[in-house]
Amino acid sequence: MKDAASPALSAALASPEAYADAVATAVRAAAAYYADGATPLGDDEYDALVRAVEAYEREHPDEVLPESPTGKVAGGAAVGDVPHSVPMLSLGNVFSAEELEAWAAGLERRLGRPVAAWCVEPKLDGLAVAARYRAGRLTQVLTRGDGLAGEDITAAADAVLGLPERLAEPVDVELRGEVLLTHEQFEQANAVRTAHGATPFAHPRSGAAGTLRAKDRAYRVELTFFGYDAHGLPGLDHAALLARIAELGANTAAATEAAPRRCATLAEAQQRIDEIAALRAELPFGIDGVVVKADAVADQEAAGSGSRAPRWAVARKLQAQHQVTTLLGVEWNVGRTGIIAPRAVLDPVVIDGVTVTYATLHNPADIERRGLMIGDRVFVYRAGDVIPRVEAPLVEERTGAERPIAFPEVCPRCGDAIDTSEQRWRCVRGRGCQVVASVIYAAGRDQLDIEGLGGTRAVQLVEAGLVGDLADLFTLTREQLLTLDRMGETSADKLLAAIETARTRPLGRVFCALGIRGTGRTMSRRIAAHFGSMAAIRAADAQALAAVDGIGTEKAALVLSELAEVAALLDRLAEQGVGTAVTEPPAVRTNPEGVAEGAGGGAADGAADGAAGPLAGQSVVVTGSMTGALAELSRNAMNELIERAGGKASSSVSKRTSLLVAGEKAGSKRAKAEELGVPVMAPEEFAELVRGFLG
Ligand code: IVH
Repeated sequence: MKDAASPALSAALASPEAYADAVATAVRAAAAYYADGATPLGDDEYDALVRAVEAYEREHPDEVLPESPTGKVAGGAAVGDVPHSVPMLSLGNVFSAEELEAWAAGLERRLGRPVAAWCVEPKLDGLAVAARYRAGRLTQVLTRGDGLAGEDITAAADAVLGLPERLAEPVDVELRGEVLLTHEQFEQANAVRTAHGATPFAHPRSGAAGTLRAKDRAYRVELTFFGYDAHGLPGLDHAALLARIAELGANTAAATEAAPRRCATLAEAQQRIDEIAALRAELPFGIDGVVVKADAVADQEAAGSGSRAPRWAVARKLQAQHQVTTLLGVEWNVGRTGIIAPRAVLDPVVIDGVTVTYATLHNPADIERRGLMIGDRVFVYRAGDVIPRVEAPLVEERTGAERPIAFPEVCPRCGDAIDTSEQRWRCVRGRGCQVVASVIYAAGRDQLDIEGLGGTRAVQLVEAGLVGDLADLFTLTREQLLTLDRMGETSADKLLAAIETARTRPLGRVFCALGIRGTGRTMSRRIAAHFGSMAAIRAADAQALAAVDGIGTEKAALVLSELAEVAALLDRLAEQGVGTAVTEPPAVRTNPEGVAEGAGGGAADGAADGAAGPLAGQSVVVTGSMTGALAELSRNAMNELIERAGGKASSSVSKRTSLLVAGEKAGSKRAKAEELGVPVMAPEEFAELVRGFLG
């Protein structure tokens, strides 16, 4: 696992002035963070800054400034006037496995014995609250404030899921935990805010902070509580305490994949930290670290607490997934289907170890909703393999030098008009605007797989007027090809042979080659397997399309309109005999009465529901690089193989996954499968299982 703080940021402070500057910056950032959750610094930057300040203070103890954020809960920034029953403490941080080991060794030295057991749990990225219950009824909810006194936010409690009005038993207890917006709640919140003319939240934490304090809003934003501590339930070890909180009816992380786990040794705890870190991108809420706690009450009591944090718990911080950087410009790119998509050009910023220079901006309406301007300081989010996205500008950071984003008036590629009737703008020529891109895509390895039809050839063919769409490829003659630059007889014959082979590609691949919006490789195979022939697909109405696994009514409508758009192309492809070949017997399924029914003209690829094969009824995920007999197979070819063998190929591991094929360098999917008890198989073993379906 990567360590959290980048070394460049933790550079030593060289002078009293640099130290004073660093203190001032940290105090400002902490104040902004605890006011509305928005901070001019990324989390990594803030942590690194405070560490530099701490290092300076260790070297120069007589120069420590009174306003320094070190050693203070919430960096000394927070306010509130309701005293806490027991101080609400913060946590110390470690940034690597070595630092965690050193921390644990220190704790064991203090105890004079090994820690009995550890409890490892997610560090939820929200706001700490204390919820007071009397006789099982919720009476008051407080923020952490400065740790000694917090703000009363009881009014916000009914919008917090997982923090019940009444507990399952009439106990007097104070539950402590984190309130946050799950990713889904964040999206919902921003949709409802923009619908009400409010600016969207910059990120989930600022949204949670703003929502807990908001008064008289015309709309409701739901949040979620995760309990991680309680006062009034004495004598329980930590894992047992969490179970008791859940038993009383409050939410905990127990039901999530990152559930708290009791670990006998630090090595085991370290492994669970790595697992939780690997699951991070797929969790439905944000975490900014993993918390390691001594599980036994006896150990906790013996260790005690400092003024700011307990000595028996520590946060192993993870790299931040949000960073703040500057929006330098916006580019407008025309895609294969004529969609004109905006892309943010950023001042390069490292997020989770990757330099991010571009980020998606979805569509023009989205830019307007977010109120973005060129020159803005913006929040950028990147997690796992997702495409980085710009979330929102830091409006309070504006200098006045920001400029509006110019929207294109004509298609930036061909200069023709733009259809702005949908959220996503599109060149009025549609696919015709980007014929070259369409042809290259159609000829690609996972579609028609036409060798020798790469970028240069496609450009030549289109510019020479020989190819205006995909169907034209199949009418090309040797004489026509020979008129092209650098096209000898051998190359021409090879290309013609490759095109000839493409004519007989299975239906799923031909359908995919069309580049129908809303359908990729997997969906194309499913549609092919479901309908069996291009004629059956074309005859389908929205309802019939929506019956395909994974196509909802919305996508069915899009696919239908796309099919109408390419109707002429489909006619010509049919004339050329493309997509009509049957390379395998049509899949047969039985209807409820048990009568065999053909799936249509030619389900050349993919199996219909219930088809026989070693993987019948199984949902299979592939991860890592394949070896042995599978070494040459692309991910798409692996998925085709799975479907030929009767299974369903899926890209993410869940409780419903029947099997994970894990090759070399398998990462988070393997961890998740092991976590969920999903069987894992090596490529060689899998190849043996599906041998009859290979090639
Ligand atoms: S334990 C005495 N457990 O992180 C107990 N805190 O950076 C101290 N947090 O103030 C807190 N998830 O707001 C604990 N599983 C977890 C947590 C957690 C998130 C927050 C909490 C705390 C902050 C410290």
